Amino acid sequence: MEEIEQLRRRWLARIAEADGADALEAVRVAALGKKGEISLRMRELGRMTPEERQSAGPALNALKDEIDAALKARKAALDDAALEARLAEEWLDVTLPARPRPRGTVHPVSQVMEELTAIFADMGFAVAEGPQIETDWHNFDALNIPPEHPARQEHDTFFMHRAEGDNRPPHVLRTHTSPVQIRAMQAQGAPLRVIAPGRVYRMDMDQTHTPMFHQVEGLAVDREISMAQLKWTLEEFCRAFFEVETVELRFRASHFPFTEPSAEVDIRCSWADGQLRIGEGEDWMEILGSGMVHPRVLEAGGIDPAAWQGFAFGMGIDRIAMLKYGIPDLRAFFESDLRWLRHYGFAALDRPDLAGGLSR
Ligand code: PHE
Repeated sequence: MEEIEQLRRRWLARIAEADGADALEAVRVAALGKKGEISLRMRELGRMTPEERQSAGPALNALKDEIDAALKARKAALDDAALEARLAEEWLDVTLPARPRPRGTVHPVSQVMEELTAIFADMGFAVAEGPQIETDWHNFDALNIPPEHPARQEHDTFFMHRAEGDNRPPHVLRTHTSPVQIRAMQAQGAPLRVIAPGRVYRMDMDQTHTPMFHQVEGLAVDREISMAQLKWTLEEFCRAFFEVETVELRFRASHFPFTEPSAEVDIRCSWADGQLRIGEGEDWMEILGSGMVHPRVLEAGGIDPAAWQGFAFGMGIDRIAMLKYGIPDLRAFFESDLRWLRHYGFAALDRPDLAGGLSR
């Protein structure tokens, strides 16, 4: 009996010491395998006297069951530990972003579009839109620029390619937002007050020109629209947009085929110390073209020029964004450089409105 107790302690200790599946299997074979120690002992029972067998038999059997159970328990414990270790190692935080979050910002052009939309909305202008791939007719003819007109060359137009035998009307990438004037008049009739911000294209590339840039068109049509109202509207816009008390605009006589009379508009500014200040100083900066809508343009838009008149203007958005936010190089606008965007961009929740202050 003493011997059984020793066997028991020794095997239970070895089982407890087995530190892996392979080690435990080796212990099992050594104890309960065909030539294992316990199995050999069981075989010896046959050579015992019946009395000896009566006491040793049940004891050995019980020992065999106990070792078997201890092996199973140890195996379960080792499996659990292995699973725990694997779970800890292969742990994955699914709430982490797959990539470091690129911190984007609102582009100054988008911000400025929101700002000017808010300002003009306050003056009763709705936003109108037109396609960027525009018919030659909307971009030129309807705006009183016939095929032989020199203005067509000045616009450095991108023409859409047409296969031979394709006789759909010719299309161009719109060279200005003015074709939206025609589309708005055709869609809404008179009276009418719209702005149309958007992309325009000209074959031009240097420090101050990119082949794609942004304009905002303005158009007001009513019974008695005057140049004075144009001037007031633009002054009011500049005061709100540049967020200064006084702005001074200078109207210079000019020529556009789609307005008569026409004026280019400069804003008073100062470049003292290399810093631009709007509304003071001795310099003037051109910011837009404008005029009274030409009767032929009203007609092309389906509006009777004998009963209605209008003013229109077209302003470069990129230019006024550079002015307002002190951005030196136009080309950087379209390079998609995140460092530039982080520096000049706006927080997504800083949506400009007149009540909250435009640029905060
Ligand atoms: N379309 C003109 C341009 O691109 C600007 C303009 C618009 C001038 C409306 C007068 C009236 O230069």
